[in-house]
Amino acid sequence: MPQYVINGGKKLHGEIKVSGAKNAALKILPACLLSNETCAIKNIPDIEDIRRMSEILEDLGAVIVRNGSTMTVETKNIKRSNPKAELVHKLRSSIMLAGPLLARFGEVTMPHPGGCVIGKRPIDMFLSAFEAMGATIHEHEDFFTLKCHKLQGAKIILPWVAVTVTESIMMTACLAEGITTLVNAAMEPEISALAGYLNSCGAKISGAGSPIITITGVEKLSAGTYELIPDRIEAGSFIIMGLITGSEIKVSNCNPKNLETELLMLQKAGAKLEIGSNYVITKKSHFHGVELRTHEYPGFSTDLQAPFTALMTQADGQSLIHEIIFEGRLFYTDKLVQMGANIIMCDPHRVIVHGPTKLYGRKLESPDLRAGMALILAGLVAEGKTIVENIYQIERGYENIVARLQALGADITKQD
Ligand code: EPZ
Repeated sequence: MPQYVINGGKKLHGEIKVSGAKNAALKILPACLLSNETCAIKNIPDIEDIRRMSEILEDLGAVIVRNGSTMTVETKNIKRSNPKAELVHKLRSSIMLAGPLLARFGEVTMPHPGGCVIGKRPIDMFLSAFEAMGATIHEHEDFFTLKCHKLQGAKIILPWVAVTVTESIMMTACLAEGITTLVNAAMEPEISALAGYLNSCGAKISGAGSPIITITGVEKLSAGTYELIPDRIEAGSFIIMGLITGSEIKVSNCNPKNLETELLMLQKAGAKLEIGSNYVITKKSHFHGVELRTHEYPGFSTDLQAPFTALMTQADGQSLIHEIIFEGRLFYTDKLVQMGANIIMCDPHRVIVHGPTKLYGRKLESPDLRAGMALILAGLVAEGKTIVENIYQIERGYENIVARLQALGADITKQD
């Protein structure tokens, strides 16, 4: 199995450019189904999740051409609306295809995409939203079929904030008849960006980025050019990488405005940062423990909880890390403990970190995308060699990560 081998203790230097946002790209690709014109997506990262989503669309008949960081997506020849099960099971975000396929073809059959280690990841909120818009649902053992000749606008109240559910309803309602009001919507920057693109194609969406989004259905949508916003989670991961190694690095091509709470918490913990309009420079800092609570945007992103926790193992004193959103997103901390960290799990949502502790290289398996990044960060400061396995999880969301970290001076290699 391929693995990363990291020799810790090296200072980093130089500049790292942030790629386009994975969690924006995974929504614009399904959104291409809403129009039979060709969509051009710029600044799209070359990562495993995008390859999986592209494979599903190409299997349905889409023509996808990548030219550097620009991808064109032509869906006019798609005649099927039943994505291949073996491809769907490789990508939880494939659920984003259900709404657009239903809106375009009136029917969609696909398997439950499955969860992942950070939580049970059900799709009940997706299905009940489609039902509210007039779809009938037929569930088999692990397949479901949605049918609706013409979706109708509806008032949909989410029991709690859910990001992909918000995006799925927003894009699907563009082609429904009448008005859809979505209450308790997520407010992530990727949602506002997607709404901006869809409106440029003729959609009528208002309120994106606020808790209440209104979508007035239209007959059809055109397609155009969509430039992905920088990946705020990648940016945050690299900022923490500079901080945990005590290095001065420049994280560029990012938007610090989409990281305000994360940067605040890092500074509260002692981080010295130079924050520019589209970059952040990390400075050698002395850290002390803080209380962290993750929260939906604009709160502290759950996706940066693991990298932040890795940093807190090097901070003076006690930190309380409260992962409010997912029930399985703290179990990776036992791997940091194996490296020498002092972390006590209070319950599935809270750990207490005592620092600073010296970390030692170990052979560890990456449980998920962001915990995998946390293990890389810990490996960069650990004494000796760290081997990270199951690196597919990391390459789902971090483009060309080994070469980019090597360019910063990190001693990291990929071994097949
Ligand atoms: C999105 O996941 C992101 N993924 C996640 O990033 C991110 O951690 C998460 O939002 C929270 O910010 C993408 O955008 C592709 P949710 P998502 O829907 O949409 C429950 C990464 O590392 N729920 O906001 O799946 C769910 O179980 C990934 O890039 C239902 O109960 O998260 C969770 O407890 C990891 N029923 C809560 O809602 C449903 O039908 C929030 O989920 C759907 C969700």
